[in-house]
Amino acid sequence: MGAFDDKTAIVLGGTSGIGLATAEMLREGGARVIAGSRRECELGGIETVQIDVQDRAGLQALFEKHQGFDYLVNAATGGKRAIGPFLEMDLDGFQGSFAKLWGYVNSVRLAAPLMAQDGAIVLYSGYPARKWRPGVLAIGSVGGAVEAFVKLAAHEIKPVRINCVCPGLIDTPLSPLEGDERKNYYQKGTADHVIPRAGTPEEVAAGGIFLLENEFVTGTIVDVDGGAIIA
Ligand SMILES: NC(=O)c1ccc[n+]([C@@H]2O[C@H](COP(=O)([O-])OP(=O)(O)OC[C@H]3O[C@@H](n4cnc5c(N)ncnc54)[C@H](OP(=O)(O)O)[C@@H]3O)[C@@H](O)[C@H]2O)c1
Repeated sequence: MGAFDDKTAIVLGGTSGIGLATAEMLREGGARVIAGSRRECELGGIETVQIDVQDRAGLQALFEKHQGFDYLVNAATGGKRAIGPFLEMDLDGFQGSFAKLWGYVNSVRLAAPLMAQDGAIVLYSGYPARKWRPGVLAIGSVGGAVEAFVKLAAHEIKPVRINCVCPGLIDTPLSPLEGDERKNYYQKGTADHVIPRAGTPEEVAAGGIFLLENEFVTGTIVDVDGGAIIA
C-alpha cells in the first residue's frame, strides 16, 4: 500500500527540478500524477499536459477535467526573473518576476473549488524571501508575497489545506551553468550556509510530500534550505 493510493495529483511545473521530483515521489507513493508545463514531454508513469500557468482558461479546463482531484502542487517559475542590483534594475523586469506569483494565484483560485474537500495544495517559495543576498531583491519580494499568500489563503480555501516549502539554493535545471562554472556557483553560493552545499530537488520535494500527507498542517512554511536563512 502506498501513502497516496487512490489519490490524484496535478503538479504544475512538474517536468523539471523540484516539481518533477515531487511528481515522481507522489507517483512512487501510488498517486495518479498529471504533470503540467509549457513543454511537450513524456515522463514514465506520469501523465503530462502542456499548460501555461498564465493561461487561466487552460487551467480551468484542466481542473474541471480532473474535478475532485486531491492534490495541487505548483512549482512553476512562471516566467522571466530579474536578477541584479536593485538600483540598476529595469523596473519592467522587476515587475515581470511576479509572473511566478500570478501563476500560483491563478492555480489556487481556480483549483480550490474543484478539489476534494480534504485536498491539499503545496507551493514553493524561495529563501531570498527572508535572506538578503546581492541581486535577489526582485525574486525575494516574489517569495515573500508567495509566503504571505499561503498564510492568508489558508483561511479562505478551508477545508482544503495550503502550505509552502521554502527551498534554499538547489541544484536544478533552473541554473543553465555547466561544468566548473556550475560547481563554483553552488560552492560559492552556499559557503556560508550551515550546511555548505546545494540541496537536491528530492530533499525539497520531501518537504512538499510531508505537507500533502500531514492533515494537521495548513498555512505553514517549511524551510528546506540547509540553514541558509539563519546563516
Ligand atoms: N532551484 C533553486 O535554487 C530554487 C531556490 C529557491 C526557490 N526555487 C523555486 O522552486 C520552484 C521550482 O524551481 P526549480 O529549480 O525546480 O526550476 P526548474 O527546474 O527550472 O523547473 C521549473 C518548472 O516550471 C515550469 N514552468 C515555468 N514557467 C511556466 C509557465 N509559465 N507555465 C507552466 N509551467 C512553467 C518549467 O517547465 P516549462 O519551461 O516547460 O514550462 C519547469 O517544469 C520555483 O518556484 C523556484 O522559484 C528554486
